[in-house]
Amino acid sequence: MFADRILSGMRPTGHLHLGHYHGVLKNWIKLQHEHPCLFFVADWHALTTHYDTPEVIGDSVWDMLIDWLAAGVDPAQATLFIQSRVPEHAELHLLLSMITPLGWLERVPTYKDQQQNMGEKDLATYGFLGYPLLQSADILIYRATHVPVGEDQVPHIEFTREIARRFNHIYGREVGFEEKARDAVKKLGSKKGRLYTEFRVRFQEQGDVDALEAAKSLLDEQQNLSAGDRERLYGYLEGGGKMILVEPQSMLTSASRMPGLDGRKMSKSYGNTISLREDPVSVEKKIRTMPTDPARIRRTDPGDPEKCPVWQFHSVYSDEATCDWVKKGCQSAAIGCIECKQPVIDAVLKEQEPMRERAQHFLDDPVLVRNIIADGCERARRLAQETMREVREAMGLDYS
Ligand code: TRP
Ligand code: SF4
Repeated sequence: MFADRILSGMRPTGHLHLGHYHGVLKNWIKLQHEHPCLFFVADWHALTTHYDTPEVIGDSVWDMLIDWLAAGVDPAQATLFIQSRVPEHAELHLLLSMITPLGWLERVPTYKDQQQNMGEKDLATYGFLGYPLLQSADILIYRATHVPVGEDQVPHIEFTREIARRFNHIYGREVGFEEKARDAVKKLGSKKGRLYTEFRVRFQEQGDVDALEAAKSLLDEQQNLSAGDRERLYGYLEGGGKMILVEPQSMLTSASRMPGLDGRKMSKSYGNTISLREDPVSVEKKIRTMPTDPARIRRTDPGDPEKCPVWQFHSVYSDEATCDWVKKGCQSAAIGCIECKQPVIDAVLKEQEPMRERAQHFLDDPVLVRNIIADGCERARRLAQETMREVREAMGLDYS
């Protein structure tokens, strides 16, 4: 139950571009083969900032899912779903709000930053303040252990850990905890019980983190433990109470090296993007008209690749031989810029071809994507409901 689980989400606020592909999706595609993964469309999070233009969100949801599938996210490997289709996220958000100090939310660095960056728009809303808490609910409801995110999101994961800790601290204390934990150890059987105790002592007396990890994986392997006993045994390892919610770690996605057409980071707000499934004619045109080293005015002027955005594309797309050819050819004016751009055009088109094909398949048959997502939502919902049962019980809401 507490074994490795990866979760990440993306807000549906427009087409994805090659920056998303190189920065995020390629990583997801790799992870989906290595761990259980959940990837979801954070449509409620989009509403916190786009509450007055919901049509943008509606248009982007399916489009973005097709982008994921086109890029190679595989619904047979990963669970894909839409946040608002798993209403348990909202319930957990509400319940967590009871124990969330306002000061913690106000102190999240993205709060004031974004509020200022959005300029005109009134973001002094309840929903926007609660953005990180909603994100915590997204993560905690699946007991995700790892969350792949960019650097800007790291404070949100830290915040999530603090909320989980606070929740476990307040609600993980039950009457007779120690005794119940000791009974649960017995249920492991004599051999595993002894091993568990040995690891626990090693961690608690010597701070041996490897022993802690070993104990956790020992618990992960036990098929026949009840949820309550598992939480007790997890909590008992580190201290005083049940561990109901799992503290996640962020898994830093290395900053995308994908440059935009003007050499700045590729970003919608700079208008320097190539979209994931952009029409080939348009791709070719955009690259052909990309700026180059401004010192190369005439074909005969030597250039400096370091001052040229095209060179950055070569460093993403070209092999060593081609890079050599560019460097030498540019510095000696042996090649022209149009000539230099051709391998980049070819490489981008080649990268996009299978994506366009896969996308077409889904565009031709919209029911297919609907079914994939209905399946994913159902799977996600089952996991979320399991956690919610325990959360309600821990908070004393399981009246009968
Ligand atoms: N806030 C994230 C972003 O802007 C999106 C997001 C919402 C998310 N919920 C999440 C990411 C849970 C990871 C896990 O990128
Ligand atoms: Fe840039 Fe290539 Fe032209 Fe040199 S030859 S300035 S690297 S486009």
